[in-house]
Amino acid sequence: LTLADWDAEAGTITLVIQAMGSSSTLINRMAVGDRFVGIAGPLGRPSELHPAAPGATVVFTAGGVGLPPVFPIAREHLRLGDHVTLIAGFRTKDLMFWTGEDEKLGRLKAEFGDLLDLVYATNDGSFGYAGFVTGPLGEMLEAKRPIAEVVTIGPPLMMKAVAELTRPHAVKTIASLNSIMVDATGMCGACMVPVLLEGRTVRRHACIDGPEIDAHIIEWAKFLPRFHQFRDQEADSLRRHGLGVA
Ligand code: FES
Repeated sequence: LTLADWDAEAGTITLVIQAMGSSSTLINRMAVGDRFVGIAGPLGRPSELHPAAPGATVVFTAGGVGLPPVFPIAREHLRLGDHVTLIAGFRTKDLMFWTGEDEKLGRLKAEFGDLLDLVYATNDGSFGYAGFVTGPLGEMLEAKRPIAEVVTIGPPLMMKAVAELTRPHAVKTIASLNSIMVDATGMCGACMVPVLLEGRTVRRHACIDGPEIDAHIIEWAKFLPRFHQFRDQEADSLRRHGLGVA
């Protein structure tokens, strides 16, 4: 569930939601006129925009529904005059979205022209680069293209792979984390992110310290299993809502 855009004047926000569990499935079944009782937010810390040095590009690697939260951050960099390389990866061509000329990315390209490089990758090679987002990023790193920083948003394994790729090149890398969140106020601990600081594991919370965290200090091997911590409850919830078995 991602906050993709907003219009302060109209008082609207745009959410992109992939149906995974019962809540997201039921939200996606809402019809025009249905309403939430309330929405809490914004929570956590705002994105930190570091202006890029002249000649450097800010790289975004977005996997699947990582693209919506990448969009407003990339747009903000473009508005600052930074060059942006947006590498958007999808499993297959049929799952691509926002990429048409009169859709979000097409309009962004029309507005900012050469300031924005759009690179598409599909795992099955059905569109653009054949493979994962790490392919085009790896080529940029090997070519020693000046990179101001890499921002990665998407599946945890993809963010880990991006972090491992940039680490030997000492390119600053930020992961915007989609940890499981329960209360989103720092009290329940569900979204805990183990990070390594001065040789010690320290707890961070994606909901109040994040979502953006230095990808090179995250202890990915400890962090990744946490995405499965409520698997039984999720399966039970799907059953109770008559939505099948996870
Ligand atoms: Fe509970 Fe972050 S969601 S501490």
